[in-house]
Amino acid sequence: MQPATEILTPDANGIARAADLLRAGKLVAFPTETVYGLGGIATRPDAVASIYAAKGRPSFNPLIAHVADLDTARRIAHFSDMAEALAAAFWPGPMTLVLPLREGHGLAPGVTAGLETVALRIPAAPVAQRVLERVGQPVAAPSANPSGRISPTRAEHVIAGLSGRIAAVLDGGACPVGVESTIVATDPAPRILRAGGLSAEAIGAALGLDLAAGPVIEDSTPTAPGQLTSHYAPSKPVRLNATAALDGEVWLGFGPVAEGQHTLSQSRDLAEAAANLFDMLHSLDDGPHTGIAVAPIPDTGLGAAINDRLQRAAAPRPRGGTPEAG
Ligand code: TXA
Ligand code: MG
Repeated sequence: MQPATEILTPDANGIARAADLLRAGKLVAFPTETVYGLGGIATRPDAVASIYAAKGRPSFNPLIAHVADLDTARRIAHFSDMAEALAAAFWPGPMTLVLPLREGHGLAPGVTAGLETVALRIPAAPVAQRVLERVGQPVAAPSANPSGRISPTRAEHVIAGLSGRIAAVLDGGACPVGVESTIVATDPAPRILRAGGLSAEAIGAALGLDLAAGPVIEDSTPTAPGQLTSHYAPSKPVRLNATAALDGEVWLGFGPVAEGQHTLSQSRDLAEAAANLFDMLHSLDDGPHTGIAVAPIPDTGLGAAINDRLQRAAAPRPRGGTPEAG
């Protein structure tokens, strides 16, 4: 059994401790602007294997390699002109690029689960930046939740899910974006593999393309193995596009609600709703109700990511009740 999980303050000492643990092959959860990541050094097969073990994640579902800067990213993957344009527009930030691996990339094979592409991200959150700079190597980091559960947007969520299974968590407070990064593949044609914290409209505008018009691609092929349907699941049933709570359900609104009721955003602001989404699902899931009824959310901008996560939270669970993805 591992020793108790250390809770680190994101000051110089905490960052140094996190980097030392990572370099020693241990797992450290850290805040990014999207969600908390479960970091392990991406060049060490043992560290990467322990990420899969700690999450209970299926080994075919590859990880995102987080890097401090574009030069490091370019040493790992081939950047097309379009990838360069996206990196220039949105990194550091809530976007992950899936790109062809370069010869001699140095990543442990488990990071990419044997694919010839790699998912790369430069996060913007200052704590994540400082960890990556201090470690000086790529850090593989899936969301820091047990596989199939809701992603963590606070250190408390990480502890609730993974305490005792990871060496440390850097407590940087709440993640401002609140949903995972948008995953974009550029080759052979640009497409969004996962809606996320950067809107399809913004990505389309940067490329001069109308990406938002198409549906988010639900890839069930091995090119995007993580997009299994039941995912991000609270333990209670979630009912979508509800107009009111039924007996026993708790209401999660969008827009103004009565005193004491819950809403993703009083002012119908989609960025605020995204920032609140996982935190509210975590806390309502812990409450006394038998289910969660959620108001309709517009499907534009960050609403696409919110609806994607809600649909996964509401999807039928595999038998035994435990969702199977990561
Ligand atoms: O915001 C985020 O993206 C967070 C923070 C920690 O960076 N990370 C995150 O990681 O959400 P994770 O592992 O929960 O989701 C990564 C997704 C998975 O669905 C995986 O299948 C997909 O990225 N992925 C990774 N490598 C891929 C590849 N080469 N091709 C297609 N999809 C890939
Ligand atoms: Mg995840």
